[in-house]
Amino acid sequence: MENDTLLKEIRSETGASLLTKVQKDFIGLDTQYTIANGEKTRRIYLDSTASTLMMGLAYRTGESFLQHYANTHSLMHFGAKIATKTYAWVHDKILDFVQADQEHYTCFFTGSGTTAGMNRIARAFNHLQPKKDVVLVSIMEHHSNDLPHRKHGGHVIHIPVDTHESKMGCIDLDLLEHYLREYEGRVNYVSVTGISNVTGIINPINEVAKLTHHYGAYIVVDAAQLAAHVPIKMSGHEDPGMDVDALIFSGHKTYAPGSPGVVIARKDLMAKIEPEEVGGGMVERVFPEKYYVSNEFPEREEAGTPNILGAITLGTAIHVLDLIGMEKVLEEDMELTHYCLDEMLKLPQIVIYGETCMDTCPRAGTVSFNIKELNHGLVAAILNDYFNIAVRNECFCAHPYVEKMLELTHRLQIYEARAKEIMNWHTEPWMGMVRVSFGIYNTREDVDLFIEALKNILENKSEYEKQYSINEAGDYTHNSFIFSCKEYFNLSQMVQDELEI
Ligand SMILES: Cc1ncc(COP(=O)(O)O)c(C=O)c1O
Repeated sequence: MENDTLLKEIRSETGASLLTKVQKDFIGLDTQYTIANGEKTRRIYLDSTASTLMMGLAYRTGESFLQHYANTHSLMHFGAKIATKTYAWVHDKILDFVQADQEHYTCFFTGSGTTAGMNRIARAFNHLQPKKDVVLVSIMEHHSNDLPHRKHGGHVIHIPVDTHESKMGCIDLDLLEHYLREYEGRVNYVSVTGISNVTGIINPINEVAKLTHHYGAYIVVDAAQLAAHVPIKMSGHEDPGMDVDALIFSGHKTYAPGSPGVVIARKDLMAKIEPEEVGGGMVERVFPEKYYVSNEFPEREEAGTPNILGAITLGTAIHVLDLIGMEKVLEEDMELTHYCLDEMLKLPQIVIYGETCMDTCPRAGTVSFNIKELNHGLVAAILNDYFNIAVRNECFCAHPYVEKMLELTHRLQIYEARAKEIMNWHTEPWMGMVRVSFGIYNTREDVDLFIEALKNILENKSEYEKQYSINEAGDYTHNSFIFSCKEYFNLSQMVQDELEI
């Protein structure tokens, strides 16, 4: 026991020093833009929930690998051997990272994010139990963990999460059980997010798994936000009911933009059905009249030439996170999120969405808010144009959740707005939020600059408002400040300059 504690301490110290080392090694942390007052300042990137910045080391391993680049389907030459071996290593590394035992789970890559993997799993799980026609998801899901089930999975039922008085919290296990009982025998699978991309609220996925399995359904986890923030344990629980059947995440949200989406799933389930995608690399033999699908994982699930370079950069980022230790990553993340929430709660004109008590509902990495009487689009534009702070606004591909939260918080009759022309609805002042989100590179200084910016906006609301007009698309545009994308990145010019033409 004492040894365990000592080991944990040593690991935590090593993790802390590794984290400090890695934190500054991201491409885009020093990017500067000229802002509306004419000053050139450093961009503060607070949009990691959408996509994280590239880890420098991941970029460098990718670049170094390109010296050997070859297709993993080639076999005998040196480059092909290096590519094939490293590509296989990345799969194993990821299985390790999410604690999925290699004998029973496979990891395969698909598409450019979580969306492709979720569609694959929805189609696959539908074939597994075709007679079970219900899929349970929570109301807090991203559209990518809702629409694929509506299209391929069956009848989707959204479980509410507004059981924490008027604030929406994490998935309520009693309520989930109520639904599992009500639809007992009909639920094929439950698919929930590990972390909400709107509020950063963390769900107890292994508890959800236990309950779901008890009622004879499978459990799918959307780990798009979870993977880079929270330690994951897919298998090896004392109670096997807590193991997860399938989990999906995005490489571009895990410090490797340009890398693929990742699916980790139980081999025995995937083996029962023919792979959704067919083509080269996933067959044993092909004859004009028939073909034999490979029994090997992950080959069976990866038709065609994969995104080898992306997988290698992702493998690097995952390896680094693993070396730091996800417990350490989560600890730092929650501390920064807590700090940001506390500072924002001191500003009475700010409305924060979702349960803000982190003891009741832990959060990691994301906070969504509005400034009373200021449109979310205007706030996002001011933060960008005057403070060089990059945030996201609108509904974050989670319309039902955002609508419900706005409705509960402001007692609004959102449904009336639905009757309005669909093109206009998002320009309504309350139909959206502003989101700040963090990666491992963000610091207290970033949060302080953001809070200062909020205070400045609150003090000068009407001055800022006068500087903007709304264009036809409903976006706020500055009346005089013009930002030229080409001044900062001009692809064709760069090519011509390099080629001296
Ligand atoms: C919780 C959640 N699920 C799914 C997705 C979709 O991921 P991708 O765009 O990488 O396919 C996102 C993206 O923001 C997300 O935050």
